[in-house]
Amino acid sequence: MAQKILFTNIDVPGINTFEVYRKNGGYASIEKALKKMTPDEVMEEVKTSGLRGRGGAGFPTGMKWSFLDRKSNNPRYLVCNADESEPGTFKDRYLMEHIPHLLIEGMITSSYALGANTSYIYIRGEFRWIIKILEKAIGEAKANGFLGKNILGSGYDLELYVHSGAGAYICGEETALLESLEGKRGNPRIKPPFPAVQGLYACPTVVNNVETIAAVVPIINMGGAEYAKFGIGKSTGTKLISACGNINKPGVYEIEMGLPVEEFIYSDQWCGGIANGKKMKAVVAGGSSVPILPTELILKNINGEGRVMSYESLADGGFVSGTMLGSGGFIVFDETQCIVRNTWNFTRFYHHESCGQCSPCREGTGWMERVLHRIEYGKGQQSDIDLLVDVAKKIEGNTICPLGDAAAWPVASAIRHFRHEFEYHINHPEKVFEDGHVYQPVEEMMIG
Ligand SMILES: Cc1cc2nc3c(=O)[nH]c(=O)nc-3n(C[C@H](O)[C@H](O)[C@H](O)COP(=O)(O)O)c2cc1C
Repeated sequence: MAQKILFTNIDVPGINTFEVYRKNGGYASIEKALKKMTPDEVMEEVKTSGLRGRGGAGFPTGMKWSFLDRKSNNPRYLVCNADESEPGTFKDRYLMEHIPHLLIEGMITSSYALGANTSYIYIRGEFRWIIKILEKAIGEAKANGFLGKNILGSGYDLELYVHSGAGAYICGEETALLESLEGKRGNPRIKPPFPAVQGLYACPTVVNNVETIAAVVPIINMGGAEYAKFGIGKSTGTKLISACGNINKPGVYEIEMGLPVEEFIYSDQWCGGIANGKKMKAVVAGGSSVPILPTELILKNINGEGRVMSYESLADGGFVSGTMLGSGGFIVFDETQCIVRNTWNFTRFYHHESCGQCSPCREGTGWMERVLHRIEYGKGQQSDIDLLVDVAKKIEGNTICPLGDAAAWPVASAIRHFRHEFEYHINHPEKVFEDGHVYQPVEEMMIG
């Protein structure tokens, strides 16, 4: 389960340079694809690999690629989503910072498969230093004949550009990203048409996450069937997990899909257990948008079977007792953390980041933030809990893009699993700290 496929060479000194990356087998997937394979054959390998999008939704990548409108005479585009603004998720940043050529190589091989001659990496505006790293890597790849005209004498041309966003979370949603890349305000588009038919400049476009595109490199090198041997069931390969919160070893880990959740949290090879000898209370397994689960449900499903790190296992139980692997942002909460405060904090974020196009999201996120604020600061009423559930339900599924769902799920799941903490805040307004936060003793938090 300690398999490394993306990060095999991440610790090699100088791996961020073209020279060292190349010496360690870098750019081989491009040589193989351009010299020995047709674009369709590259796509077939990706299909065979079972790779699923690592940006959050887990949609099969090969299938997404096959939706690209090939009959259109318009140019086709590949756009890499490097916006990574989901609280708790920082794996793409790590990959781009440490092994930038892996992404560049993946972009070239994938662009070849899709028939794109111009591709973009849309990157979060705050990643100023990574923009420089990527631009340097692109310059090196070009200087060595892997970008530009007639790559490796194959007749295939590709220009690759890095485009900076301006720091809006909504621009990670793929159609908002395309609007922003076109120079407009980043408002999500109504779908259909999907980007594969009308994407960038109304041309056929594939949008993929950084990690998804990087995974194309080992898939082409080892073959899709070999890649599919890693992992479990329909969750093939490895996954980058950014682990944070109250653990001994926060960081970015590459795990093989199927690793038991318990092992991931407690083994010294990964998170190293809960910090300061405390007990675990809850986990948000896939970035702030996914439902929070209490310890007993993150470790085991309701049938008592141990959960593993995979799309299916974490989702087991649906939204009643399950969650999602999402973008791999794994946030661990110890027994002293206040779920109400955390829910308020997440909701503030979604309210701030709502683009405002859809009323349920624009109004609902603000409403939830205000109600959570008054509960947290000792001014809530019993009816506020049901009010929150009601507002969350009215946002969910009623917006153009899934930001509304992303805002509703943390609130609904926190109340579903930690209702007693909300009630405690309402029933004990006298325990408001100087900063306004309700203090709930650990032993009382555990009652529920
Ligand atoms: C509000 C919002 C923010 C998103 N942010 C990101 C992001 O930062 N990076 C990302 O890859 N996908 C993000 N997504 C998902 C993208 O819309 C899209 O599904 C993804 O880029 C597809 O790539 P994949 O198939 O490789 O996963 C976001 C979705 C929503 C609704």
